[in-house]
Amino acid sequence: MMYLYIISTLALVATIAAHCELHHLDDAVDAYLKAQKTGQTAAFTATFDNSTWLGYYENAVKMTIHNNTLSKPLPITHTRTIRDLTLCSTYTEVVVDSKSDPYVIGTQLRFANHKINRVDSIVTKPGDWLFNITGFAYWTAQENWDTIAVEQRDTRDTIKKAADAYLDLFNNPNTTVPWGTPCVRLEGGLYGDPGPEGSCAVGVPQGVPLTRRRYVIDEAVGSVEVLLDFGQSKWPDSHQFRVEKGKLRYVHTLTHCGTANCGLPNGTSIVS
Ligand SMILES: *[C@@H]1O[C@H](CO)[C@@H](O)[C@H](O)[C@H]1NC(C)=O
Ligand SMILES: *[C@@H]1O[C@H](CO)[C@@H](O)[C@H](O)[C@H]1NC(C)=O
Ligand SMILES: *[C@@H]1O[C@H](CO)[C@@H](O)[C@H](O)[C@H]1NC(C)=O
Ligand SMILES: *[C@@H]1O[C@H](CO)[C@@H](O)[C@H](O)[C@H]1NC(C)=O
Ligand SMILES: *[C@@H]1O[C@H](CO)[C@@H](O)[C@H](O)[C@H]1NC(C)=O
Repeated sequence: MMYLYIISTLALVATIAAHCELHHLDDAVDAYLKAQKTGQTAAFTATFDNSTWLGYYENAVKMTIHNNTLSKPLPITHTRTIRDLTLCSTYTEVVVDSKSDPYVIGTQLRFANHKINRVDSIVTKPGDWLFNITGFAYWTAQENWDTIAVEQRDTRDTIKKAADAYLDLFNNPNTTVPWGTPCVRLEGGLYGDPGPEGSCAVGVPQGVPLTRRRYVIDEAVGSVEVLLDFGQSKWPDSHQFRVEKGKLRYVHTLTHCGTANCGLPNGTSIVS
């Protein structure tokens, strides 16, 4: 009897510790965006779980919280956040549509004990792969990333498999990808065909392993975002997908390679 009591108490404690709630995620994202807008990080670091802290990363480099893009106030013009209650994490696309100092940033927050314990950002600006703030700001705002009606939602597994199929294709041409029609890709700032026949099956390079995948999955908007190391050079990269009825609808990519347009002529893509 006593054992049963202890076991059920332990199980209850474990459940409470693991439980992830939307309001904690939303409050943390608000604190993150406020920090990025003001360059003031104190209210943001107050939401950290320092006992399990794993670090603040920009473009896969671990940094202190004080000397980085976050401590520079940026006039954010657009954001879109997805929330993962299973992995207890969020991803936010942040656009700074500025003539003089534009950015597109993709940030994952991960949580423990209802607080942030890891910040992982891809920070892109002029010179990064296909970066074009006019294109990115315009096209992301045209798209429909609304919440999907409960009865039409895909399972977590379907959403994740759609992303993995797309990512696996770069290293295995035999992968079957659930392409949708229309489907359109926004890479850095370059957009595909936005029309009803738009296709994302327009070719990817081969022999490019996409590794160290870190996922955020939100069934409510059919989205999965994956931070990863792109190819042999391990360029820090974000691929975000919107999946509708099991098929790919939108693909957003951000890639930082440290050399102008990843060493390719400006405006060219290795993907098509
Ligand atoms: C965590 O550590 C940072 C840096 O030392 C500090 O600024 C912040 O207030 C701490 N957060 C909490 C919740 O204690
Ligand atoms: C971080 O600090 C170093 C040394 O003070 C400076 O050279 C560097 O530019 C800073 N980096 C950022 C991103 O502010
Ligand atoms: C390519 O773009 C970068 C960043 O905008 C610029 O510095 C560079 O001069 C451009 N290169 C060419 C060949 O146009
Ligand atoms: C950037 O994107 C805009 C909008 O799609 C387009 O009109 C413009 O030509 C692009 N600029 C470059 C340098 O590709
Ligand atoms: C893809 O399929 C072809 C034909 O069946 C096969 O020869 C090839 O080894 C496969 N490639 C991979 C990477 O599995």
